[in-house]
Amino acid sequence: MDKLKITGGARLNGRVEIAGAKNAALPALAACLLTDQPVELSKLPKVRDVRTMLRVLEQLAASVTETESGSSIITADRYASHEAPYDLVKTMRASVLVLGPLLARYGRARVSLPGGCAIGERPINFHIEGLQRMGADVTLEHGYVEARVEGKLHGARLSFPTKSVTATENLMMAACLAEGTTTLINCAEEPEIVDLAELLNAMGASVHGAGTDEILVEGRPFLHGAKHRVISDRIEAGTYLIAGAMAGDRLELVDCDPFHMRPVLEQLSGAGVDIEVSERTITVTAPDRIEARDLRTSPHPGYPTDMQAQYMAMMTQAHGTSVIAETVFERRFMHVGELLRMGADIRIDGHTAVVVGPTKLTGAQVMATDLRASASLVLAGLVADGVTVIDRVYHLDRGYEPIEHKLGALGASIERIRS
Ligand code: EPU
Repeated sequence: MDKLKITGGARLNGRVEIAGAKNAALPALAACLLTDQPVELSKLPKVRDVRTMLRVLEQLAASVTETESGSSIITADRYASHEAPYDLVKTMRASVLVLGPLLARYGRARVSLPGGCAIGERPINFHIEGLQRMGADVTLEHGYVEARVEGKLHGARLSFPTKSVTATENLMMAACLAEGTTTLINCAEEPEIVDLAELLNAMGASVHGAGTDEILVEGRPFLHGAKHRVISDRIEAGTYLIAGAMAGDRLELVDCDPFHMRPVLEQLSGAGVDIEVSERTITVTAPDRIEARDLRTSPHPGYPTDMQAQYMAMMTQAHGTSVIAETVFERRFMHVGELLRMGADIRIDGHTAVVVGPTKLTGAQVMATDLRASASLVLAGLVADGVTVIDRVYHLDRGYEPIEHKLGALGASIERIRS
């Protein structure tokens, strides 16, 4: 298992190009199953989860080719299977996104049930109940979700008990090929959902209201091919923004979308971070003093749970006490134990962490436990005294383009130790 070795103390300077959003790329790839015509996707991030999803699509029905400009063309015209097997799903829960498209297009889907994971139980009952209401027969057998429908799915009026990003996406995709109109109520409103709706509409679907809490989908008999550029990754951008806030002389994030990042920009500005925003660029400089500021995660347009761990790393360097409340997932404080090993002063009380700063962090051997927790350890390593070695970097590789290249180019002392 690869490790990252970081020697703290270097100042960061320069430009970093923000990748395409992993969490927009994954549903966009699943949507390619809705048509037998080629769909060309550009700005797919070079991360492991995207490679995994491409493998899932190839096993199901698709061929994948690369263009000279780096786009991927996905053509789902050679049905081979309707099963997303355990071996792939266990490495990436988002494989469940193929459930809706497979069922809508082929009338059958067999997808391994993702288990609980490092950040919470993460059930998929909203996905299943929604498809049942649209006419599917869904059973759970031998660890798999088996879904079938005679003929086509039909439109329905569905209300989510709480907001769910991938459940909204799954049912939105299924509804595109259903008979009649589907109304989705209490939808998640993340920018990635708007991006998926744009792709679906470019494929001939009729999706209205994405980005609000109510989405209306009029089913179509078939969809066609399209070209689509995936939006920028607001979480990768936010992670570099915090790197700049903690250790940046001047860092420029290019090809990002500040509009999608409003909650993060407002939170960081409120903590005294010096940020300049233009249309597709954000510039950040570490302030003389970061102020402690409380945080509460919530679905978009609230502050994203995927940026909570990174913010906590920054709060260890802030002046004062900050209270960080995690409201989206049950167990998203796995990074705390590792930050404590580096000298942080953090106390957990249920869904809340209390961080007292500033503390002097010292390099240590630490363990990555999930994707965003890993990012917080990298950030802590950048300002720690001495050498930090982060084990289990494969978590980070799921969602970040090689961070040692991007941070290294900005002046960080960081290297990958291959096993
Ligand atoms: N939930 C249920 N039942 C369901 C679905 C969700 O109870 O059927 C609950 C979850 O357990 C959770 C809450 O609803 O407590 C919200 O979870 P959501 O379904 O929105 O999460 P997700 O769709 O599985 C996506 C991202 C996550 C991100 C969350 C929240 C993708 C592929 N994944 O997950 O990204 O944290 O939304 O914004 O879009 C990451 O990139 O590191 C990551 C974990």
